[in-house]
Amino acid sequence: MAERTTTGAKLEVDTSYDNDTTYGDQLSSYSASLTSSVLDYRYENGRRYHKFRDGSYLLPNDDTENERLDMVHEMFLELLHKKLYLAPIKKPQRVIDLGTGTGIWAVDFADQHRDAEVIGCDLSPTQTTMVPPNVKFLVDDITSDWTYESNPFDFIHARFLAVAIKDFGKLLKQCYRSVKPGGWVEFQDWDGYPTSEDGSHNGTAIKRYYDEVYGAFEKAGYEVRPGPKLEQWFKDAGFVNISVKKLAIPYGVWPKDPHLKKVGAWAQAASEANGFEGFALAALTRYKQWTKEEVLALANQARDDGRNRNIHMFFNFYVVYGQRPEK
Ligand SMILES: C[S@@+](CC[C@H](N)C(=O)[O-])C[C@H]1O[C@@H](n2cnc3c(N)ncnc32)[C@H](O)[C@@H]1O
Repeated sequence: MAERTTTGAKLEVDTSYDNDTTYGDQLSSYSASLTSSVLDYRYENGRRYHKFRDGSYLLPNDDTENERLDMVHEMFLELLHKKLYLAPIKKPQRVIDLGTGTGIWAVDFADQHRDAEVIGCDLSPTQTTMVPPNVKFLVDDITSDWTYESNPFDFIHARFLAVAIKDFGKLLKQCYRSVKPGGWVEFQDWDGYPTSEDGSHNGTAIKRYYDEVYGAFEKAGYEVRPGPKLEQWFKDAGFVNISVKKLAIPYGVWPKDPHLKKVGAWAQAASEANGFEGFALAALTRYKQWTKEEVLALANQARDDGRNRNIHMFFNFYVVYGQRPEK
């Protein structure tokens, strides 16, 4: 069922290096009680982390991270040709975005579907405050037992939960129980480990960076390559009419294809916005006992490799949706 939608079997490299200068009022409402443990933060190695369910997510939630997430959102929009989702939903009334981050997807979705009630749920209360009236944000742990079965959703969406969730199979089963018969669930996620068709990323610092960092996430028990496993988890949960789209996300501006070049430029911009550091710090210091200085040194090497257009690295990314049977 998987289909790769890139320029073809090969990802073609752009060999013209020079002319590429283009790349180089409503307050949100929180349904969880805003106790100090929800609003409190943990500060570590110069970055800020969530405090509610302290330690269960290893990426920061500070302004730097939020700017990175908004860039990643632009990258995903470019990747999907401005589409927020691919599931064939019609007039959804009740929608939830799991692990909503800055809430940017939920806000865009609510703007496009003014009749829908949209909930964005996250461990961190860091969402934007300027939102359309049909969005609300909820501070909650999506790995805890849900209470939505009596008031299910038409559409459940989750994007980029790699390195956040340990048991995707359980999460998909929760989704199945909490979506209406005939309703849709869509997950968009990575195969976190990068690859290259010509092997040019082998032996580089950027490959070592991902090996080390994902090794730490795996040691901590997180799923780092959910993308290729999503189809099976959807089947196991009971979904039907499952669709799988496999896409390539290049790192950097090396592809010849203008669309992929733009996607790659966003990927690079997001990672250079302190993304290499933020992604690695807690995982490597908490789970592999690296020092902050060791992490920053590898992050800088990875960033430099990322600028090397002879390294033709990309990630596989999966958009998978399925329907709960009508009966
Ligand atoms: C990589 S970010 C992706 C954000 C957003 N989905 C997007 O695509 O822009 C992962 C988000 O999941 C949230 N998260 C991680 N574990 C969670 C949990 N157990 N419950 C709720 N949210 C969680 C994090 O706080 C973070 O905002």
